[in-house]
Amino acid sequence: MKEIPHIVSTFHILTLAEEATARYLSSILSPFGYHLHITKDFQESIQHIMTEQPSVLIISGQMQDDEGLALLQYLKTHRDYDELPVMFFSDGSEEQELRAFQIGAEDVCSLTTSEVAVRARLRVLLRIAGYRRRISNEKRRLEITVEQRTKELLEITVATVAALEKASELSDEETGDHMMRVAAYSACLAEEMGLDRAMVEKIRLYAPLHDVGKVGVRHEVLKKAGVLTNEEFDEMKQHTVFGYDLLTAAKADDVARNIALYHHERYDGSGYPYNLKKDEIPLEARIVAVADVFDALTTKRRYKEALPPKDALQITCVELGERFDPTVRQALINRFDQFVAIMQQTTGEE
Ligand SMILES: [Fe+2]
Ligand SMILES: [Fe+2]
Repeated sequence: MKEIPHIVSTFHILTLAEEATARYLSSILSPFGYHLHITKDFQESIQHIMTEQPSVLIISGQMQDDEGLALLQYLKTHRDYDELPVMFFSDGSEEQELRAFQIGAEDVCSLTTSEVAVRARLRVLLRIAGYRRRISNEKRRLEITVEQRTKELLEITVATVAALEKASELSDEETGDHMMRVAAYSACLAEEMGLDRAMVEKIRLYAPLHDVGKVGVRHEVLKKAGVLTNEEFDEMKQHTVFGYDLLTAAKADDVARNIALYHHERYDGSGYPYNLKKDEIPLEARIVAVADVFDALTTKRRYKEALPPKDALQITCVELGERFDPTVRQALINRFDQFVAIMQQTTGEE
């Protein structure tokens, strides 16, 4: 039965090979519609892979200095390229074939493989490339949807808090700008600390809800101009527990509930409501605590002026340093310039 030429217009096959192998491969593949782009060395191949994103790679085992195996090794140990299907075209030695498989080549052929078999096996690799591409497109599509949803949720959260603020159900500290800055600062700290992207986004999303429990505190206490009595302060402290209960009833994520309940705990154990210490406090709450205090210090309130960011940094990281997780403090120091930029964007203050 005659083999039908395979029209592969959307496929792009890169071949790293020396003259003789390149010529042979072209002679058995080109008449069947496979277009090969031939490169002659390691660097040129990498460059081509980065810019042209080929579907399949054929590597010759006859390159000088084992450059073929070196390229295979490089690709299979780099996350950006390890999904690119590779056919290794060996020098025929069993040792080299074994080595190529061990490194991770999807298939190995040689001059002893029949032409028909080379083409058939190449088709399998192209199919694999198609599946992998489809999976990665789907993954990207899902990521975009999740990002979109997260953005919507953040907007809903901020709108809810702004509505509460308008209804005077929150103190004058809980402005929409404060929420947005605490979200941005917290995400920035989480990122600097190397938390994974999903966690960073959760923290960004839920940080604005840290004081949502204040809706459960009596108006007189919340809006009192003078110093709170001990009883009033005890009532105020309850906003952490109210917030937790509210978010639990709303079936909110653990990250949201932890932030509400523990954002006033202090690293040295002097916080509330449970006097937790160090690692007993969930990381997300330790992060939001720093963001919250930095913002409180750098904004003007009814009873105090705004401090310059450098002074706020000194207070948060040194003077009151004991209260905060040292790794979060270090993250603040590392990202200080970004904090200042966030601050200037939303307050317009220097
Ligand atoms: Fe609070
Ligand atoms: Fe706050």
